[in-house]
Amino acid sequence: MTQDLTVYEAIERRRDVRAEFSGELLDDDVLVRILSAAHRAPSVGNSQPWDFVVIQSPETLDAFAAHVACKRDDFAESLPPERAATFSPIKIEGIRESRTGIVVTHDQSRGGQHVLGRHTITDAGLFSTVLAIQNLWLAATAEGIGVGWVSFYDEPFLANLAGLPEGVRPIAWLCIGPVTRLQEVPDLERFGWRSRRPLDEAIHRERF
Ligand SMILES: Cc1cc2nc3c(=O)[nH]c(=O)nc-3n(C[C@H](O)[C@H](O)[C@H](O)COP(=O)(O)O)c2cc1C
Repeated sequence: MTQDLTVYEAIERRRDVRAEFSGELLDDDVLVRILSAAHRAPSVGNSQPWDFVVIQSPETLDAFAAHVACKRDDFAESLPPERAATFSPIKIEGIRESRTGIVVTHDQSRGGQHVLGRHTITDAGLFSTVLAIQNLWLAATAEGIGVGWVSFYDEPFLANLAGLPEGVRPIAWLCIGPVTRLQEVPDLERFGWRSRRPLDEAIHRERF
């Protein structure tokens, strides 16, 4: 259900969701509304280099969740004991519970060779795809829908799982679905992993 949130309220309420998915399947009309918000993102040279692969097959969700579990183990093993203990209770995905995954992809060849504004900054295409993700995340928040970004994967594995053509890169797996609630404080802060920086530290005037 769309809520009448201001942009500031949606930004404030947005959360990375892991444990709060209700298990209901996202309504398809809502999904399309959210994807249309993503698709209206700004992009370098109007190249619109993104695509959205919507995945709801339980077998594919299981296969991705199993892969992510291995990557989580790899990360846990790389940590010193004290950080490993802090990391241990932190949930890093809600792949099965959300029941819908969106693989957001990036095609650097979209728009041809002469993308206006990308001749100086190659990554400007990638920035555009990430802006589509932010639009998606905020629109979902305004719909009362949760989103969780999963990045614990090997790109070739996900490219193969989602059937991506050669040269199309997976940028994110987004778990998306109805939620029981949105946390007020980010999980990584609640679990003592890392807190938000004060705004003062991020603002610089005239020079860094
Ligand atoms: C590029 C990117 C990758 C992320 N990957 C993961 C991930 O693999 N698992 C996870 O639980 N959260 C992931 N997150 C979510 C962040 O942990 C989260 O945004 C951050 O802790 C702040 O919390 P908030 O989004 O609720 O404000 C990712 C976020 C971004 C932007």
